[in-house]
Amino acid sequence: MKAIRAINENTITDAALDQMSTTEDPRLKQVMESLVRHLHDFAREVDLKPGEWLKGIEFLTAVGKKCTPARQEFILLSDTLGMSSLINSLHDKRALEAGTKSSLLGPFYRNDSPERQMGDSITENAKGKEVVLYGKVTNSAGQPVPNASVEIWQPDDEGVYDMQRDENKMDLRGHFRTGDDGVYYCRAVAPLGYMIPMDGPVGDMIRAQKRHGYRPAHIHFLVGGEGYREVITALYLAGDDHIDSDTVFGVTESLVTDVKENDPGCPVKGMPSIEFNFELAAATAADMSGRVGADPKQIVKE
Ligand SMILES: [Fe+2]
Repeated sequence: MKAIRAINENTITDAALDQMSTTEDPRLKQVMESLVRHLHDFAREVDLKPGEWLKGIEFLTAVGKKCTPARQEFILLSDTLGMSSLINSLHDKRALEAGTKSSLLGPFYRNDSPERQMGDSITENAKGKEVVLYGKVTNSAGQPVPNASVEIWQPDDEGVYDMQRDENKMDLRGHFRTGDDGVYYCRAVAPLGYMIPMDGPVGDMIRAQKRHGYRPAHIHFLVGGEGYREVITALYLAGDDHIDSDTVFGVTESLVTDVKENDPGCPVKGMPSIEFNFELAAATAADMSGRVGADPKQIVKE
């Protein structure tokens, strides 16, 4: 008769790994084995108490219950723990060519933003300071990428996204197609920094950690072209009070730019502008999606 394993705080890890060893999918097996090893190590390291683990379970339950078709508290948790930024960096590292760095997709992306014509505004009722956003989409050799899709979304002049005001409202969003020159331009609003949603369990965590909860002013982009790796990123405005302490770790040096008042390159003369260029790396057969997140309604179905 096979001896019965003595389970204690050390042998439990091998017991769990042995039982999972029948997993057929090799990647699932690798990911789950590593997750269990690290999770067990974490509990041993902090000598986790039953009441503390239960608190963690209550917290994750509350995070799940806060998710709706218009709000993704789990993406917010991933963002505020630095996990989304880490996964973005790993994704960038796998590219065969250098390109524009990734930043957060965040919890406010929508997959059905309106198609707009080059030069249009991404809002019908702009409040705040209107700016021209423009730039060029190129490949790693600097050649223009024609017919690239440029998707843009941003908060309003009070730092609030459309879906936070009304989940059916669509504003300050749009997608454009570049012409043969790879150029895009549109009108937008100079963004303001904002505090992440603090009325849920992630907000409770941020307060318990005495973090400020702010994101520096930014505009989100999702740029893709046939044969290229899709890039999910954002531009950040220099001079923002929180440019060095983003609550979700989206800012990196190469994504920081500023509003210029008299830029001779601006396609609409006399308007303040933000120039932001994109470099797309060639796609490979092994590429997987770089989207850390999704439109909330693709995760929680109505
Ligand atoms: Fe944002």
